[in-house]
Amino acid sequence: MELVFKTLLFDQNDRIATVTINRPDKLNALNAQAKSELRELFTQLKTDDAISVVILTGAGEKAFVAGTDIKELTVLNSETGKDFSAKGQEVFDLIENLGKPVIAAVNGYALGGGCELALACHIRIASENAKFGQPEVNLGIIPGYGGTQRLARLIGRGRAMEMILSGNQIDAQEALRIGLVNKVVPQAELLATATSMAQLIASKGQVAIRMALKAVNMTQETTLSDGQKLEASLFGVCCESEDFKEGTSAFLEKRKPAFSQRSLDESSLRPSDKNK
Ligand code: COA
Repeated sequence: MELVFKTLLFDQNDRIATVTINRPDKLNALNAQAKSELRELFTQLKTDDAISVVILTGAGEKAFVAGTDIKELTVLNSETGKDFSAKGQEVFDLIENLGKPVIAAVNGYALGGGCELALACHIRIASENAKFGQPEVNLGIIPGYGGTQRLARLIGRGRAMEMILSGNQIDAQEALRIGLVNKVVPQAELLATATSMAQLIASKGQVAIRMALKAVNMTQETTLSDGQKLEASLFGVCCESEDFKEGTSAFLEKRKPAFSQRSLDESSLRPSDKNK
């Protein structure tokens, strides 16, 4: 994919895309242009069959994303503020519902919208110097890009309340302890660790990966019994795939599976499965 953006860097290697938010002099704060470019790029990544996994990181060694751009907040009123929040939520929803795994490689400050951006990703790997926080109350606002919802679902209501009400930052080890991140590594190893996780996932059958993402994402908004109905239905979708035939045959023939690496074509989903 030939892509040139003002606030993002894009790199593709094998089936793995790396997206870097690139405003290091502003600690990669998300201005309107960055959000619009994220929307454009992730919209393209969603349907790009050559990409299986995306890594999202920030430029430089200091920040993943230090929040939304505070300069752009000052003009907001109740109506434009609501719209500002809803539009940001849409971009982060796009990432969460990409249909391919997105790994956040958190290389420093992940504050406000930066913490929320990491939360919208499926797996979070942090460098030792990473710091997480929802400092919006210091500005007289609340998290507006899904943070009040995703943080509480990920780490529990009590811990999310503490982070959101205090505005305090936590370090990478504390983030690991409370389940906010999956892994902490030295900064020099961050991208290599994220890449090897991405390669591992890209080596699996991509139909199963896509169905697993849908099923686990759904835990955010469904009951156990509805979630299990969805799981059974998606399990059935997997059973129709070439990957399923290949994976089970390879096991029985004592060889490594050679998956097609293609995700399931949306058109081949049964109508009843399409919106799952
Ligand atoms: N929005 C806009 N600009 C930001 C920013 C943000 N969220 N976070 C950092 N920047 C800018 C600073 O204004 C500064 O720009 P300047 O050099 O033109 O003055 C530059 O990035 C470097 O930041 P600085 O504050 O000098 O670095 P620091 O090491 O002293 O402090 C932080 C780092 C992250 C603690 C501090 O930048 C900060 O508190 N940022 C805001 C975090 C926040 O509240 N995020 C939530 C927003 S809703």
